[in-house]
Amino acid sequence: MNEIRVAILGASGWMGKVHTMAFETFPHFFGTANGVARIAALVTRNEQAAREFAVTVPGAKILSDWQAAVADPDVDLVDICLPDNMHYEVAKAALLAGKHVLCEKPLADTAAEARELADIAKVKGVITRVGHAFPRNPVHDLARDIIEAGEIGDITMFRGCQHVDVFGDPMAPFMWRADGALAPTGIVGDTGSHVFSFMEFLVGRVGSLIAENSIFTRSRPTADGGTAEVTNPDATNVICRFENGATGLVDFSRVATGRKFMQTYEIYGTRGSLAFNYDEINRLRFYSNADANGRRGFREIDVGPEYANYRAFLPLPNFALGYNETKIIEAMEVVRSIVTNTPSWPTFESGHHITQIVDACMESSRLKRWVDIPKS
Ligand SMILES: NC(=O)c1ccc[n+]([C@@H]2O[C@H](COP(=O)([O-])OP(=O)(O)OC[C@H]3O[C@@H](n4cnc5c(N)ncnc54)[C@H](O)[C@@H]3O)[C@@H](O)[C@H]2O)c1
Repeated sequence: MNEIRVAILGASGWMGKVHTMAFETFPHFFGTANGVARIAALVTRNEQAAREFAVTVPGAKILSDWQAAVADPDVDLVDICLPDNMHYEVAKAALLAGKHVLCEKPLADTAAEARELADIAKVKGVITRVGHAFPRNPVHDLARDIIEAGEIGDITMFRGCQHVDVFGDPMAPFMWRADGALAPTGIVGDTGSHVFSFMEFLVGRVGSLIAENSIFTRSRPTADGGTAEVTNPDATNVICRFENGATGLVDFSRVATGRKFMQTYEIYGTRGSLAFNYDEINRLRFYSNADANGRRGFREIDVGPEYANYRAFLPLPNFALGYNETKIIEAMEVVRSIVTNTPSWPTFESGHHITQIVDACMESSRLKRWVDIPKS
């Protein structure tokens, strides 16, 4: 049995908790044939959380500095669940120390940094993965299989969006996500990167785009009774052209009042179409020109146990896999990749392309014109 020793950095945050759960949980569903994970170290600066980890994750080292985890010879995989602006520095140190790295999205603040990380990983021969887990819901494997089988023909258009309203209220409190020093690309790297990950997974590389970023609320109240300036985008609209000729229309925001979590895509092709809406998280709508005239319409397909990543959890369709299951799938795939030395999507190469799209949105909005994305 191959045991991968994992250090979770930012362990007491949202993603830190989810990743810890995912690494501990996946063998219950997927078995042990492709390896197991042991939480070797948890990095947190929260004293209460540190005391609780001693009980909930017995045996794990509880550390307060990420550097100690990266240097630890008892750690094989460094899992970065820290704020966006730390990803590059920490991932680089981990790669140079010869560790495998799972890094939450966005991989880095700039495409140049992401390129450097992907190149170091190649030289070091380690496994990398970016935390874009939404497309790892098996319903999107179904979408990809339909596309790859040619069942919707050549893709002509991708329409996608992701909206929340966490900052919809102008009085919603300030947090690091609105701070351009800690999250330089704001909603573009935070949320746009999720839509871009679907684009890369289902359609392919983007060649050029034009984007417009907006900040709607310039200052927000802080916990200490003061105010802080919002210094990164709240919302973005993008038109893009994929390298394969398809067009794209994408929008995302954190100020979509009433939208608690909206994520959709529609993919139109020359022979059919696909449509996904997160509100029906395991359901794909598929329209096919191959259907008889007079009988055409979108059919609803609930992904089910035909897919191994669904079957591992549930024996029947429509019982629904949710967000946390996609993270369990991610943890399983990362460990399997390390044990079998086989990279799995999305590696740092994909993370680099997604960061290129983010960069291009920032540049296009600043210059108010179309921007080409380099092919590498
Ligand atoms: N893939 C997804 O669906 C998804 C969802 C949410 C967040 N994220 C990403 O995950 C990352 C973390 O986001 P979150 O929502 O968990 O944030 P969070 O604020 O809940 O957690 C971040 C944690 O990092 C800790 N931290 C900050 N600086 C530190 C330091 N120097 N040393 C040690 N710990 C430090 C904080 O104390 C906090 O516990 C972000 O990059 C975010 O973009 C991804």
